[in-house]
Amino acid sequence: MGRQRVLSGVQPTGNLHLGNYLGAIRNWVEGQQKYENFFCVVDLHAITVPHDPKTLAENTRAVAALYLACGIDLDHSTIFVQSHVPAHTELTWLLNCITPLNWLERMIQFKEKAIKQGENVGVGLLDYPVLMAADILLYDADKVPVGEDQKQHLELTRDIAMRLNYQFGREEAPVLKVPDPLIRPEGARIMSLTDGTRKMSKSDPSEQSRINLLDDPDTLRQKIKRCKTDPVRGLEFDNPERPECNNLLTLYAILSNQTKDAVAEECREMGWGQFKPLLTETTVEALRPIQEKYNEVMGDPGYLDSVLRDGQARASEIANATLARVRAALGFLPPLS
Ligand code: TRP
Repeated sequence: MGRQRVLSGVQPTGNLHLGNYLGAIRNWVEGQQKYENFFCVVDLHAITVPHDPKTLAENTRAVAALYLACGIDLDHSTIFVQSHVPAHTELTWLLNCITPLNWLERMIQFKEKAIKQGENVGVGLLDYPVLMAADILLYDADKVPVGEDQKQHLELTRDIAMRLNYQFGREEAPVLKVPDPLIRPEGARIMSLTDGTRKMSKSDPSEQSRINLLDDPDTLRQKIKRCKTDPVRGLEFDNPERPECNNLLTLYAILSNQTKDAVAEECREMGWGQFKPLLTETTVEALRPIQEKYNEVMGDPGYLDSVLRDGQARASEIANATLARVRAALGFLPPLS
């Protein structure tokens, strides 16, 4: 038996931040030897909200380069661009036709994003989870690393797969593999620098709210200097009255590779004036190797092209085989050669 397969993806919407890294990519990197991994840059998802055609391609390359910079290893993992494998859009259509509309209308993320979009809600926004299901199901993924906010989409993926299998498969020979979530016990939830009760997010209009992986040392210094704290002296984890304190200590613990206990001990008597420079230096040092590797990769466009070309070839082979299986199960006349 081969290794189990993992698939995940990040949207190329601007800069990746520490929440993306600590909550997702770092876990992919840690688990990658155990699995056969596919990591895609989900550019088709990025156009479900209004987007800028001038930056889409560059952002797509940047996310692929950041995967490499964060330690995704091509010996264990395939990196590819979603739109380079047309099977994603085609399977989406086939799945659309068996997915009940009301399954999509009740997706929490759709409802939240639709409210923000107001009048301008595209059909693609509603269909977003079906495209995500196609991403996962095309690769017969066994495991999908998901954070809290994507759990409902993975549930939907499972429901769609089971429905297709039930309607068009035989029990002995399911058409699609039903994936399981890969939940890691220590999945860090990194919160905003301006509000310790809200997740660090790309969609927050304030740059000050997040630490981007590519922020230079001066920007990091400024952001940490200005981040929200409280007037209490002495720092502690897990005090519900002090969400910012918990978040900043958590960041410090992860970035300095220390246990929570060690950090609680070290910072118990500190004031913010002492802690902030410590967090700043730790962050600068933690991001330095990622930024160096990123610059190296971005400085060699031919190399990045070759990574994405290989990724496209490897991904296409698997995706096309699954697509052919689904087409056959649905009864299509095979294309004539
Ligand atoms: N919706 C995911 C997010 O925003 C991104 C994504 C697209 C994804 N396709 C996927 C994640 C497939 C895991 C598997 O985080």
